[in-house]
Parts: sequence; C-alpha cells; structure tokens
Amino acid sequence: TKPLSVGVAGLGTVGAGVLTLLRDNAATVAARAGRPIAVTAVSARDRMRDRGVSIAGLRWYDDAAALANDPGVDVVVETIGGTEGPAADLVRAALAAGKPVVTANKALLAIHGAELAATAEAKGVALCFEAAVAGGIPAIKAVREGLAANDLTRVMGILNGTCNYILTQMRERGIEFAQALSEAQKLGYAEADPSFDVDGIDAAHKLAILAALAFGRPVDFAGVHVEGIRSISALDIKLAEELGYRIKLLGIARRTEAGIETRMHPCMVPVSHPIARVDGVFNAVVAEGDFVGRVVLEGRGAGAGPTASAVVADLIDIARGRTTPVWGVASAALSHAPSLPMSQR
Ligand code: HSE
Repeated sequence: TKPLSVGVAGLGTVGAGVLTLLRDNAATVAARAGRPIAVTAVSARDRMRDRGVSIAGLRWYDDAAALANDPGVDVVVETIGGTEGPAADLVRAALAAGKPVVTANKALLAIHGAELAATAEAKGVALCFEAAVAGGIPAIKAVREGLAANDLTRVMGILNGTCNYILTQMRERGIEFAQALSEAQKLGYAEADPSFDVDGIDAAHKLAILAALAFGRPVDFAGVHVEGIRSISALDIKLAEELGYRIKLLGIARRTEAGIETRMHPCMVPVSHPIARVDGVFNAVVAEGDFVGRVVLEGRGAGAGPTASAVVADLIDIARGRTTPVWGVASAALSHAPSLPMSQR
C-alpha cells in the first residue's frame, strides 16, 4: 500500500522527536495505520544542526509554507510554534490546499482555533492537535471522544511540565525558582520564550482548548484569568508543605449558572489529593462528567518522546481516514456560552 507521505515543519525537540519515533517504531505505526507513514519533506531554520536523527534524502524547504504545496506531501505536521508568522502561514496554506494538518501548537489554536477549524471543516480535512495539550496524555481524545456522551461539569489539570518541574525541584531540593527554571530549559521542556511557561500563558492556552472541547463552545483565550509561578519562593513551598499542602499551577474550567469560568493560577492542593502527587514534568488532566464521574489522566506533559507519541497518534488517525470534527461537533453547532466576567469570579 502507498505510504502516507508527511511533511514536517519545525525540527526542534518535537519535530525531531517525530522523525525519531517514525524511524524506531515504523513497523508498529504501519500496522496500526494500515500503511507505512513516511516523512518525505522537512523545513527548519538551520539545515546543518545535529538533531540526533538524519534528514538525509528528505526534500528540504527554507520556507515552511512552501511545504504545504509540495505535491508529494499528503499531510503537514507543524511543530514550529508561535501564533503568527511561519506556523500560521503554513497551517493556513495546508488547509487551503485541502491537506490535513497535525499541530502541536497550542498558542496558535488558542488564538486562531475558531478560524482554522472553520477552514478545516469547509475543506473537509482533518486538523489534529493531540500534542497541543498535556504532551503525551491523550487528553483531547479523552475529553472529545471518550467522554462525548457526558455533560461535563469541570475539567482541570496541571498543564505545564516546566512549571510542575520547577515547583517539584523547589520543594524537593529547596532550590530557588531561577535555578530550577534554567534546569528545565536545559532538559528541553520550556517554550522558546520561557515566560510563556512561568507566567501561566502556555498552560492557559491548553486550558482554553480543553474548555472549548469540554463545553462545546469556541475557544476563548481572552476569557482565561492567568497568573503564573514567578513570585513563589522555596519558603512558600516549605510552609505549604508544613500545613499539608503542595503548591501546584492548576488550570480550572467550570460550568456555572452564569457562564464558563476558566482560570489558571497557583493553588494549595491538599497532599491527599491525587493531583498533589503529580510531580516533575508530569501533567494531569481531571474531567468530571454527569454519567462517568471523575476521570484522572496522568503522564508526561512535555519532551520529545511524549509529544511525538501524540503527534504520531494523530497521523495514524489520518492514515486510517478518521476525521473527527475539530472540536468534536461541527463548528456551526458550537454553543456560545459566555465566559464568566472576571468581576464575578
Ligand atoms: N513548555 C511546555 C511545558 C511544553 O513545559 O509543558 C509542552 O507544551
């Protein structure tokens, strides 16, 4: 059978991870997909950089958007990042050309998700983003598909691996924020601009996406109240610990009578709660539905392997011809339940 031919734009931690996974697990992936999945074209800033995986023999593009128009590319994987510029140009070009897109770009979806979903639906192509929320945890499929029969009352979670790593290191080793951040950056967990991590913005992007899926409404990033972890000291963490709490950066989206409340801020979590024990780069997603009750998912939220795992799962769906509507329902059917005004929180 004809392989699914993939173009990958962005060869940082995630893009290189996708190439590595497709190389190492080729047989498993082909079996699940019903045909081989092969990367045939790539684009990145620097052709020569050593990424630990070979790009020899692959078609090269300096201009990411040009990848969309390569007639040999069936599906575009976008792991560039950023809400404007090359990532947005590429995704728009690919959808316009009627090619399915897999993206790990939570910022892009949080800001332009409504527009991109409308284009994807108009063109009848898949726009997949399992990797955009909680790394390797299949949070999108869980909330959109696995729990589709429920009315959800709340989704919440630890949605940034860098922050959770920092808070964990501060607690376990008594080190301060700056040192823990520089370690997380060296491990490749942090965003290109780490203020996106530590100021809660990256996690808020993911929360906005989860809330849209959970409550069947358009993504509303502007409606998320956002606060990060910069001002937390090792002493705060120690004092919380003495009282029986752990400090976690939590994102919470909840249905209220007045609208949907979405907020991201550090919380004191009792050590007895399962979320309190989610440490290091691990993320957690908790969903509460009327029939299912509470569901808790935990796994690595950042890094090459976990994120590639999610990207390739989406490629397998596309190879199989599964094209779930972007938000689980046609965009035209989304309700416009308002965000709760900040003054009412
Ligand atoms: N910087 C993000 C994190 C990467 O630390 O969770 C995954 O989105």
